[in-house]
Amino acid sequence: MSAQIIDGKAFAATVREKVAGHVARLKEEHGITPGLAVVLVGEDPASQVYVRSKGKQTVEAGMNSIEHKLDADTSEEDLLAIVDQLNNDPAVHGILVQLPLPGHLNEDLVINSIDPAKDVDGFHISNVGLLGTGQKSMVPCTPLGCLMMLRDHHGSLSGMDAVVIGRSNIVGKPMAQLLLGDSCTVTIAHSRTKDLPDVVRRADIVVAAVGRPEMVPGDWIKEGATVIDVGINRIERDGKNKLVGDVDFASATERAGAITPVPGGVGPMTIACLLANTVTACCRANGLAEPEGLTA
Ligand code: GUN
Repeated sequence: MSAQIIDGKAFAATVREKVAGHVARLKEEHGITPGLAVVLVGEDPASQVYVRSKGKQTVEAGMNSIEHKLDADTSEEDLLAIVDQLNNDPAVHGILVQLPLPGHLNEDLVINSIDPAKDVDGFHISNVGLLGTGQKSMVPCTPLGCLMMLRDHHGSLSGMDAVVIGRSNIVGKPMAQLLLGDSCTVTIAHSRTKDLPDVVRRADIVVAAVGRPEMVPGDWIKEGATVIDVGINRIERDGKNKLVGDVDFASATERAGAITPVPGGVGPMTIACLLANTVTACCRANGLAEPEGLTA
């Protein structure tokens, strides 16, 4: 049997529509326009593409987009001064410092200098701690997008066995916290995990976030499991450039009950959730009710 395809592109479009609706209401009823500031240091081509896309979608949702593009040799002091200025600007509700930063800049120091209430990436140590203790926080965008798709597909996730492959601070760890928050039994697997195939075979939900092209073959997937593929890997095959996930899609669709494709699965959800987090941050900053269905 072939798995149901979870269409992240379509799902992201519905999230963006909801965001745009909330933005319109914030403007009409409260005279507030949410603002998202993105800081890009240097000229990493992938980061430039992301930042352009973020800016475009922010404006399309009716929000203000503020961009700071800084030279690769910007000093830590100058970068921290810009973050401080954004922290104190009431028109800015969300701040994102694009990663990776050039090597001479301390990423942890910079991220932790962002006002946690404006940290729409959910990377600040305060937000990490709040999420880990089940308190209201800003939630990292990619795991939030995965959670939204899982909830939409299953309704309740309570009692399900979930395996997250990958232990990054951006995806693996927060994903595990979110699944635990929804009462899954969660395993975090990684490069040192013993007998990874058997660990994956037990899972009702598999979230693959390792960044290794097609490393999870279909015969690791339990019959009927839901597979969320976070990987976006560029490979060359038959002389052509191709995007593939961390899961071997062709064989996994024969076993899974549902699966996200690459491209068109998790990818589009990340920016949609960034917009959702910006609206959430704006509502919290103004003491207004948070948008329903757009937070964890
Ligand atoms: N670089 C790649 N993905 C991300 C992301 O989600 N947030 C930030 N700040 N940088 C990134």
